[in-house]
Amino acid sequence: MTATYKVINATDYSDSFGERDAFALDVLVGLSETRKSIPSKYLYDARGSELFREITKLTEYYPTNCELEILENRSTALAEYVSGRPFNLVELGAGFGRKTRILLGRFAELDLDFRYVPIDISESAMDGLVAELTDKLPNVEAGGLVSDYFNGLKWLNNRDDRLNFVLFLGSSIGNFSHNESRVFLRNLWNCLNHGDIVLIGFDLKKDIELLLHAYNDSRGVTQEFNLNLLRRINRELGGHFDIDKFRHFGTYDVFSGGMESYLVSLERQTVYIDMIGRSFTFAPWEPIHTEYSYKYLIPEIEHLALETGFSVATHYFDSRRFFTDSVWRVEKPRPST
Ligand code: AVJ
Repeated sequence: MTATYKVINATDYSDSFGERDAFALDVLVGLSETRKSIPSKYLYDARGSELFREITKLTEYYPTNCELEILENRSTALAEYVSGRPFNLVELGAGFGRKTRILLGRFAELDLDFRYVPIDISESAMDGLVAELTDKLPNVEAGGLVSDYFNGLKWLNNRDDRLNFVLFLGSSIGNFSHNESRVFLRNLWNCLNHGDIVLIGFDLKKDIELLLHAYNDSRGVTQEFNLNLLRRINRELGGHFDIDKFRHFGTYDVFSGGMESYLVSLERQTVYIDMIGRSFTFAPWEPIHTEYSYKYLIPEIEHLALETGFSVATHYFDSRRFFTDSVWRVEKPRPST
């Protein structure tokens, strides 16, 4: 008898454990806990991303406008960190939104020697971005990577020895707990070289009233954004959620400094999900946790940088000091011989 084996690889993709299976598993695990939750990354399907874009246009949702103001005012100063050397302008979770366009436009005006490298796991998002970029900034050299962040960065570094300038904008880091942030930043450090630069957006601690309004907007866009998660389960996993029986609730934990988003069940109900093959029961007023959005103080940011192997070059603020784009440098110890 002959024993054989087969390596399941990308060409067998449609037969293997795909994105939908991962979603189903995460929903099963999350809704089986006593404190129910669903990972926030699932908020961003096509509809969710569109709703988030709507959120960024609300005056109550200040972070986007703050960061736009910072980049408008500081893009020339930012160029100082890289000028005179060829570099990769790497963006984690590319959007080619208004913010990136400001930086790319200014860097191109200054005639810097750079290539724009957006890294995103979603091929459809990358497709749209590349088309936009070709249309709007034809003179910028760009080569996107469809990959998770760390594999993309490793691949890039094995291919050239340019300086890297990494963007992680929009306070995306706020979605991570403090422990997850440490792990994330240390992984990032590990993929970069001594002297590389990272620019990270942090939302700052501020008047709690302002926070509550930003995450419970008066037009109910944030509510729609959050409820879309249940709609997505209905669409993709054959869920039977009655959306009218849940309500969005955004609250702030003063001890952890985290905005927290929940979907609260308005009554006792049992919901079947076809692809999971079982139902889940919700008590009246039982919450599903869907998102954290941590707010920082400057000393907390500096501590985070130091404990993950970076030095802080500077913090740029908007005029109201609601938000900061922090510039860090990668510090790698020289090997002791
Ligand atoms: C995209 C993660 C930065 O946390 O402020 C906005 C998402 N959630 N309103 C944030 C979000 C509700 C946003 N981030």
